[in-house]
Amino acid sequence: MSYTLEAFCEDCRNSVTAGEEGRVEIQANMEKLLSEEAFIAEHFGPGAEAKITPLYTDDESGFQVLTHVYSEGKESPPHDHGDTWAVYGQAVAHTDMTVWRRTDDGFDETRAEVEPEKTYRLDPAMAGKFEPGDIHSIKFPAGARFLRVTGADLNKVPTRRFDPKASTVVEGAGVSGVVR
Ligand SMILES: [Fe+2]
Repeated sequence: MSYTLEAFCEDCRNSVTAGEEGRVEIQANMEKLLSEEAFIAEHFGPGAEAKITPLYTDDESGFQVLTHVYSEGKESPPHDHGDTWAVYGQAVAHTDMTVWRRTDDGFDETRAEVEPEKTYRLDPAMAGKFEPGDIHSIKFPAGARFLRVTGADLNKVPTRRFDPKASTVVEGAGVSGVVR
């Protein structure tokens, strides 16, 4: 039987109350959803508009399911998702994920030193999860398309963007820009 967006959202509703274990479930279910040809064809086909589209927002917990379709390749700065989490799943092409480690003491609110810890590639139907406070950056080529679930609307929660060269950090709602 095919796995649908509606079934995925229903499963997410159950998983979001289960902490990190629930995020692992969301990651696995996202990989299942992204293996469905019908889902990919409907939301990530050649005619999909280049924009970020919220497919679902949960009234109760506030989690969101969004499609990301881009016409050009992009690279984001290292950033976190504030006190919430994110699961990214590849639909078309690939995304290179870099996980960053913070190496300073965190006492200065405007300064931060970060260094890359590991990099891995999400190919189609692969998903990666980022816990609250995790720092990552993403890089993808033209034509890449992915699905993302966030624990909240990232336009409304404070997140942080890091500049590894300048050793600075900026905090604010939506600071990470279009790609985050
Ligand atoms: Fe992100």
